[in-house]
Amino acid sequence: MPRFRLPTPSRPAALQSKAKRPAGANGPSGPVETAAEGGIHVVDWLDERTSLSGGLRWMMFRKVPKGTNWFYTLGSATMFAFLSQAVTGIFLAMYYDPSPTRAYESVRYIVNDAFLGEFVRGMHRWGSSVMVILICLHMARTFFFGAYKYPRELNWVIGVALLILTFAMSFTGYLLPFDQRSYWATIVGVNINGTGPLVGPYLSDFLRAGPEFGATTLSRFYAIHMMLVPGLIAALMGAHLYLVAKLGTTAPPWMRAEREKSLIEDEV
Ligand code: HEM
Repeated sequence: MPRFRLPTPSRPAALQSKAKRPAGANGPSGPVETAAEGGIHVVDWLDERTSLSGGLRWMMFRKVPKGTNWFYTLGSATMFAFLSQAVTGIFLAMYYDPSPTRAYESVRYIVNDAFLGEFVRGMHRWGSSVMVILICLHMARTFFFGAYKYPRELNWVIGVALLILTFAMSFTGYLLPFDQRSYWATIVGVNINGTGPLVGPYLSDFLRAGPEFGATTLSRFYAIHMMLVPGLIAALMGAHLYLVAKLGTTAPPWMRAEREKSLIEDEV
């Protein structure tokens, strides 16, 4: 009598072998693999000549202290806000005209006529407030977690410079629409700067580009706003992040208190 055997069920997907075919044995099988291998070749080519991947791994794959929480994302959030300001600012600069007679009209054109102009300008305008709020929250986090202490004092000082430069961005950007409000508010701001000790009068002369508010004041504010200060912020941000990667981040104070107690107990 013939014996019937049930066919063996195939192995579940989770148990199937995931071993990769050795690269180049039969060449890539499909367009996706071909593209992936092409990408890997390009990265390998660059890495062989620059050793960039070592630096990237050093920067990105760091150990973080126990107790790291959402408050530690405020620095990266500030950086994202800055990048968003840089990108939207580039698009605004394509239409903006820093001349006293055409500045207001060019902003009006961006908002009313340019494709997505109102959206991009809105992002830039509100983004500046978002960046100021985020930088203050980030500073408060580092202050309350004691991250300004040894060996991170230099990073705190760089942070203070970044804070001042961020305020400088807001101040110089405010004049650019060149409407009544921005004009008079900037005169008040420049005069307040002038009352500062020692450097005050020189600073307000530098900002006005002379003793009086004139046609060159707007170009000066524009140059400071779109080149000088963003360049300084980008450079200092690089130094700030280098020090964060080199020194690591501070553990929250409550975690450190726990560890110290157990160490003392161990010693006893
Ligand atoms: C453009 C502005 C800034 C950017 C993009 C930025 C970015 C960052 C990032 C990504 C970190 C690491 C993780 C974190 O704690 O968020 C960090 C850490 C730090 N930042 Fe900033 N930051 C800025 C401004 C400031 C300011 C204004 C201060 C203080 C005055 C400051 C002081 C510090 C300190 C002391 C650390 C070390 C934190 C630790 O060890 O736990 N930063 N920053």
